Amino acid sequence: MAKLYVNAAVKKGKVNKEIQGHFSEHLGRCIYEGLYVGENSPIPNTNGMRNDVVAALKEMKLPVLRWPGGCFADEYHWKDGIGPKESRKKMINTHWGGVVEDNSFGTHEFMELCRQLGCETYINGNVGSGTVQEMSEWVEYMTFEGVSPMADLRKANGHEKPWKVNYFGVGNENWGCGGNMRPEYYANEYRRYQTFVRNYKSGERIYKIACGPNVDDYDWMKTVLETLSDRNGRGAERFANGISLHYYTVPEDWGKKGSATDFTTADYYKTLYKTNYMEALLKNHIAIMDVYDPENRIGLIVDEWGTWYDVEPGTNPGFLYQQNTMRDAMVAAVNLNLFNKYCSRVKMANIAQLVNVLQSVILTEGEKMILTPTYHVFNLYKHHQEGQLLESSVETEEIGLEKEYMIQNLTESVSMDAEGRIHITVANLSADQSCPVEVKIAEKQVNTARAEILTNEIHAKNTFDEPNTVHTEAFDGLKTENGSICFTMPACSVMHVVVE
Ligand code: AHR
Repeated sequence: MAKLYVNAAVKKGKVNKEIQGHFSEHLGRCIYEGLYVGENSPIPNTNGMRNDVVAALKEMKLPVLRWPGGCFADEYHWKDGIGPKESRKKMINTHWGGVVEDNSFGTHEFMELCRQLGCETYINGNVGSGTVQEMSEWVEYMTFEGVSPMADLRKANGHEKPWKVNYFGVGNENWGCGGNMRPEYYANEYRRYQTFVRNYKSGERIYKIACGPNVDDYDWMKTVLETLSDRNGRGAERFANGISLHYYTVPEDWGKKGSATDFTTADYYKTLYKTNYMEALLKNHIAIMDVYDPENRIGLIVDEWGTWYDVEPGTNPGFLYQQNTMRDAMVAAVNLNLFNKYCSRVKMANIAQLVNVLQSVILTEGEKMILTPTYHVFNLYKHHQEGQLLESSVETEEIGLEKEYMIQNLTESVSMDAEGRIHITVANLSADQSCPVEVKIAEKQVNTARAEILTNEIHAKNTFDEPNTVHTEAFDGLKTENGSICFTMPACSVMHVVVE
């Protein structure tokens, strides 16, 4: 029997709700069709936003949304996306399929979407092909209340009051699609650009995010922090509140990534093994951050993560549309547990991407919408938002089919909410073996415990014809004995256990 130990007296930091953040890019059918259909669409909408999608995302408590990219951010010119729609410029989306971008979804529409979702805003600015003035004016347009050219323009465009920008990314992947820069050059540019990302409203500070490394580019992390620091290697937090990290789970390699739905059990374990690499990345990048920022003032922002497969056969290769199975649910469970465990440094994470692109929580086809297995994992994990991480560990076994891709079968994280309830999220990653688990909680009396579960065969998915194959259910197999909670987790399952 596996053991899951929790110590309710050891609190390890706040689990920021933003750890369960999302990302929406002008890519494929994410914005257009997925989120925004326009006011004249026969698909039920409010001010152009799909009602079905907004309702599902609110249920999942989506806390923060990043926009407009990704690679798209570094070729986006925000002024093209304001004013009367008929006169907005059309552009080519060179990164993503070479399609025409008509700019009908711009700043006002993004802010309206976030208003409907009740979520925080994370805007990503353009360093690669934009100017300091352009970035500075965008911030003025969005956040300045008084009389100024940009505030006046916003008012003329129908929005009297400024919006709140919670997070602002100064460039995206500037080591690649955002300008192919070297770290020192980027960091110097960052210093300059961020100077003009002004805080106009007293008491409201925009959280500025520097472009961090790709995967294990430790030199990028080190050089950027060094360049943002003073001569004593300190003070980077004067310029950056956060620094990003991007890591995607690619089962094979970038040439042939592998199918989203047609995979072997060995592929399944390899995918989870590669997902676990996130932990080494977090540890190593945090170790570098600890050198330059020992007081832990700069957050690690994992603003792109998730699975990346070959696109669904027959779809535009530039649209990155992929299906989503129980394997993706397990990837989400592993990553979200890791982000919780490293919450003292990981302040936000954004899965890529929200709808119809990569590891989405929602897929749409015309007026139809399905919730993916990944959606259900976020919905189970939402109870951690703003809780206190508790010390926890598991004693369990290794599983896998190939020696080099062995993994531990259980992944877990535990938090306490404001009312003193304990929330345990635990996944059994085994493709075919159930796992009996005993949970032992120190420093808390177990009065009641209940659970909900997501479980199915590793390939199981929801489709437009069968939208409910994968869904969560109440779990009635918990037994509380002598202060312990015992249950058997089916193969390939994720559970949320609430202890009161
Ligand atoms: O999410 C798709 C792309 O992946 C993003 O645009 C880019 O930032 C990353 O390379």
